Amino acid sequence: MRIQSKFSSKLMELVLDVRNLYHTFIFEFQRQDVLTSVDLHVKPGEFVILTGPSGCGKTTLLTLISGLRAIQRGSIKLLGNELFNADAATRLQLRALIGMVYQSHHLIDFLTAEENIILAMDPSVRAERDMLVKQRRARNLLKQLGLEHKTHARPAQLSGGQRQRVAIARAMACRPKLLIADEPTASLDAENSGLIMQLFRELVDTDGLSVLMTSHDQRLHRYADRIVKISDGRIIPD
Ligand SMILES: Nc1ncnc2c1ncn2[C@@H]1O[C@H](COP(=O)(O)OP(=O)(O)OP(=O)(O)O)[C@@H](O)[C@H]1O
Ligand SMILES: [Mg+2]
Repeated sequence: MRIQSKFSSKLMELVLDVRNLYHTFIFEFQRQDVLTSVDLHVKPGEFVILTGPSGCGKTTLLTLISGLRAIQRGSIKLLGNELFNADAATRLQLRALIGMVYQSHHLIDFLTAEENIILAMDPSVRAERDMLVKQRRARNLLKQLGLEHKTHARPAQLSGGQRQRVAIARAMACRPKLLIADEPTASLDAENSGLIMQLFRELVDTDGLSVLMTSHDQRLHRYADRIVKISDGRIIPD
């Protein structure tokens, strides 16, 4: 918990600060520069949408930020702490501040919707050791996403859009400071996309959550505080 108090004293610090980030893929002896000198920041309580053509590097950037891919060159700081160089305890606590919604849902097939969400809850939160408290929180999240009636359904029994909504509830289960969402509404209809965006907006406005998400859908841009455009691995200046 040492780190939590250190973080809370730096409330106005950028939640995310990416500087001069590069990434290169080498596939079948072909080298492809996918990210070039990317600078990107997200402030506390800010909702940012990252947009750009297919293949321009959006998912690569999000996977680097969430630690699914190793950084090759450049810097990624979360609340002022370099992700890559932090000591082990700090690294774990920093990563626990990120909630991630993937382009495909990655739910655990043998667990119900509720259990998938409970699995992601922070076991160090004392009150949540109590299963009933965890279940209540999971059900509240499911309710917020219009899925109360699917509490006990397994992923195979859900539609693509419903699975994605469970994945969003799961990402929120650890009470993240930064929610990273890769095309979270891609498999949803207009009504459900609007519901998700309203929920993100509400969490940003009332809980001070920061959101960084990608979306091709221009109709969703009005929910964000800022739109960042990326093309061919480079951020396009405003
Ligand atoms: N593991 C990999 N190995 C080699 N090349 C890859 C790998 N992952 C992605 N790429 C390439 O990197 C480029 C960027 O891919 P990325 O998935 O980041 O794009 P994107 O902007 O998220 O696209 P989309 O909007 O279609 O999701 C693409 O040209 C892709 O082919
Ligand atoms: Mg992508």
